[in-house]
Amino acid sequence: MLPFATSGSKAVPRHHISGYSNGYPRGNTFEISPHRFQRRTTPVAVRRRRRLFARLGLGIVLFLLGWYFFGSGGSIFSLFSLGFLSGSDDFQLETVRYYDLSNVQGTARGWEREERILFCVPLRDAEPHLPMFFSHLRNFTYPHHLIDLAFLVSDSKDRTLEVLVENLEAIQADEDARQHYGEISIIEKDFGQIVNQDVESRHGFAAQASRRKLMARARNWLLSAALRPYHSWVYWRDVDVETAPFTILEDLMRHNKDVIVPNVWRPLPDWLGGEQPYDLNSWQESETALALADTLDEDAVIVEGYAEYATWRPHLAYLRDPYGDPDMEMEIDGVGGVSILAKAKVFRYGVHFPAFSFEKHAETEGFGKMARRMQFSVVGLPHYTIWHLYEPSVDDIKHMEEMKREKLAREQEERERAEKAEKIKEEFGDPNSQWEKDKSDLQNIALQDQPAQADRPDVAADAPVGAGNPAGAGQPPEKPAEEMVEPPRAGAKVPPKENR
Ligand SMILES: *[C@@H]1O[C@H](CO)[C@@H](O)[C@H](O)[C@H]1NC(C)=O
Repeated sequence: MLPFATSGSKAVPRHHISGYSNGYPRGNTFEISPHRFQRRTTPVAVRRRRRLFARLGLGIVLFLLGWYFFGSGGSIFSLFSLGFLSGSDDFQLETVRYYDLSNVQGTARGWEREERILFCVPLRDAEPHLPMFFSHLRNFTYPHHLIDLAFLVSDSKDRTLEVLVENLEAIQADEDARQHYGEISIIEKDFGQIVNQDVESRHGFAAQASRRKLMARARNWLLSAALRPYHSWVYWRDVDVETAPFTILEDLMRHNKDVIVPNVWRPLPDWLGGEQPYDLNSWQESETALALADTLDEDAVIVEGYAEYATWRPHLAYLRDPYGDPDMEMEIDGVGGVSILAKAKVFRYGVHFPAFSFEKHAETEGFGKMARRMQFSVVGLPHYTIWHLYEPSVDDIKHMEEMKREKLAREQEERERAEKAEKIKEEFGDPNSQWEKDKSDLQNIALQDQPAQADRPDVAADAPVGAGNPAGAGQPPEKPAEEMVEPPRAGAKVPPKENR
C-alpha cells in the first residue's frame, strides 16, 4: 500500500485524505453503513459477481458500438480498451483501505477525540436478559456512533438471535439519531458442550477449567472477527448486568489504563443478607497461590472461589467500601469478564484469552496475567461497583418456595380465624354492643336513683368503709350491713326500698 501513498494515485485520496483522524474510513466503503444497521440479504460474493457482470456488459456494449461506428480500426479499439482498463483499475482500488493507526492508541478523553470502541458481548441462551441489556445500551452516555457492537451467539436453544435482531432494528431505527450505534456484527458459532451436563452437575469444580477454556475460545473468535484497525478500545460486557452507571465507559477510560475493571457485586434478597461480592476473578497474586501453582501439573487451571484451591489472594470484590473513593485503583493480576475496558492495542500486541493453562489460569484470569506479563497496566477499582443480576441458586429457590408456602399457610390461618370470629358475631350478636347497651341502661337507672341517694349522703360516704369491713362493725345500726358490702353498681340495681 505504501507505494500508492507516494505515487499520488487515486487510492490515496480515497481513503487517506478523506479518512477521519480516528482512523475510521469515510465514505461508503462498508456493506453495513456505520449509522444504519441492515440485515444482509445477498452474500458479498454474489454482489461482487453482479458488479463484475455489469462492468463486463458495459465493456461489451462499448466494444460493439466502436465496432459499428469505426469498423475494426485497431487504434480506436485500443483507446476503448484503455478506458475500460482504467475503469477496472478504479474497481480494484475500491478494495484498498488505508488506515493511520497513530491516532487509535486510546487516551483518557477518548470521546473528545472520537475514539471508537468495539463493544463485545458473548451471548448464550440470553433471551430473557436482552431487554434489560438494551435498556443499558440506550443509556450509555459515550457517543453511540463511536461504538461498534459485536455479538457472539453460541449454543443457544432459545430465541436469542431473533430477539437480538429485533432489539437492534428498534434501536437503529430510533427517531433520536443519537441512539444509533455504529457498525454492528453478529457472529454465530457453536462451541459445543465439552463437558456433559451429568458430569458437570456432579463435579462442578472439576468442570470449571473446561468451561473457562470454552469461554476463552468464544471470546477470541468474537474479538478476532470484529476488531477493526480503527478501534481504539475494546469493551467486554456481560448481558446480565443489572445496574451500572450510564457513564461507565468514560469513567473507566479516564484512568487511561491498558486494562481496567470495576468491582462487581450482586444484590440479594433480604433473607440472604442484602448484597454479596459477585465476581471473584479479579484478584492480586499471592505467595500462597504461586507456591500452589508450582505444585500443579502443567495443564492445571486454578479457578477462584472454590475451596479446593485456597489461594489467599486479595480479591477486588472483598475490598469494597461503599463510601470509598470510586477512583481508587488497585493493581490486579487476574481480571473478571463481566465488564472489562481494554485498549485495543493490548489485543493487537497479541494478548488474548488463553484457552489453555497460561501460568495455571485460563480465559479472563489468564488474559489479565498475560497482559501483566507483557508489561501492560492492569487495574481494578475496588470502590466503583456495578451490580450483576441476582439469579437464585437451586437451594435458594427451594428455600424461597418453602418461605412462600409458610407465608401462604399463615395467611390462610389468619383468614380462617377472622372468618370464624365474623360468624360468631353474626350468630350471637355483637357482644360488645350488647355490653354497651347494658351499661347505658344501668347508667340511666343509676341517674334516676341519684336524687334519692343525695338525700342520704352518709350512705355514699360510708360505702367504701363498709366494703372493707363486711361485718359492718361499728356502723350505725339503721343501715343493713348487706347493703354496705355490695359494690355501687349492684347497689344501684336493687335500690333500697326504704328510700322510696
Ligand atoms: C435507563 O434509564 C431510564 C431512565 O432514566 C431508567 O428508567 C432505566 O431503568 C435505565 N436502564 C437501566 C438498565 O439502568
